[in-house]
Amino acid sequence: MEYQIGVISWDGIGPEIVAEAKKVLDQIGEKYGHVFHYKEILMGGCSIDATGEPLTEEAVAAAKASDAVLMGSIGGNTSTSPWYRLPPEKRPEAGLLKLRKSLNLFANLRPAYLYEELKGACPLREDIIGAGFDMMIMRELTGGLYFGERRTEEKDGVVTATDTLTYNENEIRRIAKRGFEIAMKRRKKVTSVDKANVLDSSRLWRRVVEETAKEYPEVSYEHMLVDNCAMQLVKDPKQFDVILTENMFGDILSDEASMVTGSIGMLSSASLNDTKFGLYEPSGGSAPDIAGKGIANPIATILSAAMMLRYTFDLDKEADAVENAVKRVLAEGYRTVDILPQESAGTKDAQTIVQVGTKQMGDLIAARV
Ligand code: IPM
Ligand code: MG
Repeated sequence: MEYQIGVISWDGIGPEIVAEAKKVLDQIGEKYGHVFHYKEILMGGCSIDATGEPLTEEAVAAAKASDAVLMGSIGGNTSTSPWYRLPPEKRPEAGLLKLRKSLNLFANLRPAYLYEELKGACPLREDIIGAGFDMMIMRELTGGLYFGERRTEEKDGVVTATDTLTYNENEIRRIAKRGFEIAMKRRKKVTSVDKANVLDSSRLWRRVVEETAKEYPEVSYEHMLVDNCAMQLVKDPKQFDVILTENMFGDILSDEASMVTGSIGMLSSASLNDTKFGLYEPSGGSAPDIAGKGIANPIATILSAAMMLRYTFDLDKEADAVENAVKRVLAEGYRTVDILPQESAGTKDAQTIVQVGTKQMGDLIAARV
């Protein structure tokens, strides 16, 4: 089969990590008889430099015309880059938000999985890690504070900023259904996270999740307040299977979940709508401090490409091959700098570890698919 993949890759470490994901995809293509066509799409800082806009209508149309979009990273250093002197709606991140909204990508899947081999990079104590953990954060992606009305104005001589948090029951229901469906394919447990002790939007969230849960009697579910969830993620991450939550809470909790796995450089993500289309991107940012140095971890992007194979192209065997290749490379001891074992980790680990750069990591994985 032939597949059209839009590629967004120019900011920060984007070009380096996307090149490795393409390398792995092309290897899959060769081995399993598929052809992947890539089309560059401008978004973020590179688009601002070229067109003055973080995402043009032409770029949105190009994304819509693709079967899926693979994205590296967007944005730069928020204190030094000239992009951040522009008004908010002209900054790199506005391009990503516009793309999510334009393509109705309401369901954001962020798996957080602790690889056996990376226990040494996990900042949690051995007794907390136990047999490891494997959770899926289901983050609502096109509503809430991110897309509510906002303004900054002067009221009686005092500058005042307002952001609004709105959800309707339909927006909650469709993400809740996705969350329960994913749970059915996993360990059948949903933890719905909200702030129902304070927010109306969370009280509605809870009600709609409870209604939705009735359609999935095999799935056990619980409600958890977001502050408690932040604590539980470091206290006992094993308890979680699917974490279902709204946009802003999901943004924060997914960074936390990624850190407890040892590195944000390991985490993939998929943003999906009601069709087979998906936007696939690593959970980490553009990391401008290490851009161009050849040391960024490409694994999150490679695993995002695996999610693309699975969710958009229905190529499960091929997705498994990529994921297994990543596991093998880790088992053989290869590490980028961000996932080196911490110094306190056992010496047995330290002897077998080989530090590699971005390109070598991509080569190693491609050779094992
Ligand atoms: C993420 C990022 C984005 C978000 C930024 C870049 C706008 O942090 O995908 O988690 O807040 O959603
Ligand atoms: Mg984030």
